[in-house]
Amino acid sequence: MAYLSKELNLVQKTRLKKLNSFGIEASCEQLVSFHSEAEISSWLALNNNQSERFFVLGGGSNLLLIGHVPYILLQANIQGVEYQEQGDDVLVKAGAGVNWHQLVMQTLDKGYCGLENLSLIPGNVGAAPIQNIGAYGVELKDLFVELEAIELATGDKLVFAHQECDFAYRHSIFKGALKGQYIITSVSLKLSKIPKLKLDYGPIRNELSHLSDSGITPKAVSEAVIKIRSSKLPDPEELGNAGSFFKNPIVSASSYQQLKQQFPELVAFEIADGRYKLAAGWLIDQAGLKGYRLGDAGVHKKQALVLVNYGDASGKDILSLARFVAKTIDEKFGVTIEPEVWILGEASW
Ligand code: EPU
Repeated sequence: MAYLSKELNLVQKTRLKKLNSFGIEASCEQLVSFHSEAEISSWLALNNNQSERFFVLGGGSNLLLIGHVPYILLQANIQGVEYQEQGDDVLVKAGAGVNWHQLVMQTLDKGYCGLENLSLIPGNVGAAPIQNIGAYGVELKDLFVELEAIELATGDKLVFAHQECDFAYRHSIFKGALKGQYIITSVSLKLSKIPKLKLDYGPIRNELSHLSDSGITPKAVSEAVIKIRSSKLPDPEELGNAGSFFKNPIVSASSYQQLKQQFPELVAFEIADGRYKLAAGWLIDQAGLKGYRLGDAGVHKKQALVLVNYGDASGKDILSLARFVAKTIDEKFGVTIEPEVWILGEASW
């Protein structure tokens, strides 16, 4: 039986269906939701001897839960956004619990530019640096200044500067060497009053083609991104999903050349080190799996990189489908694709 302790915002043996965007039924040992750094510190002082049993839950939008999660889930629901203007720049410090899209909208309303391409990404501010969220040619690392976090084992508060976060494509040190060790409490970003628009990602220019040059404002870009995303990506309120389920795989230049010869239509982008990032959505689509269904687990009909829960899929159902998709891509293209989402509970990738 779940109960709520007024003092600690603590829910025991809680059900997690409403706390993950896949809408999957799962449970955990305990869920503790904090509203300030002070609450985190005092709770950790009493409980940090159990730190190996903690898992930090962000907005639950990049998570596949399977069965019972044998962890105490911690959530930093810290609100509040502070703005500090510095000439044409503005430093924005947002609490980890602020909804990401609401932050994007608020900054655009204030005339601060930089986050427009990252509109409508589900989840909270605190989760954004963990996987270095990105869309339409912009990644969080492009705007990131620093973050504050509390070490779970000691309760110590630390500031991580950009170079300490080891950002890469859908990756940071918080998914690597420091995985599971910190709870992020705030994130600081540098935005600008002067627009520096990034319009080169495929569909954006096309979406803005009805506007004159002066009409292409950061808000117009945000609206275009919202339109593109809404046309391809399912709304978790209507159809459970966690955005892209897989990362786009990165292959050597020679593997890319070989594949391109065999599949001339292959969609790929050269990255800085000369390797190529392949569009996993294209691979899955070409393998004939777009719209494929295994019970209530499905490959989305409009974007093959997204797996969806049609209603009663369990975490295991989604995982079985994901394994089948990955196996099919390996067999057809000789390419390994890996999940972008965290898999947590009674099974792993
Ligand atoms: N494609 C297909 N069929 C599909 C899906 C895609 O042919 O079913 C082709 C598209 O036509 C396009 C290419 O694959 O040529 C890339 O597709 P898209 O532009 O939709 O982007 P993506 O690579 O599939 C990535 C991110 C998304 C992000 C978009 C836009 C990853 C894992 N995903 O998807 O991020 O919104 O680019 O920047 O990098 C997320 O992380 O949850 C997410 C949604």
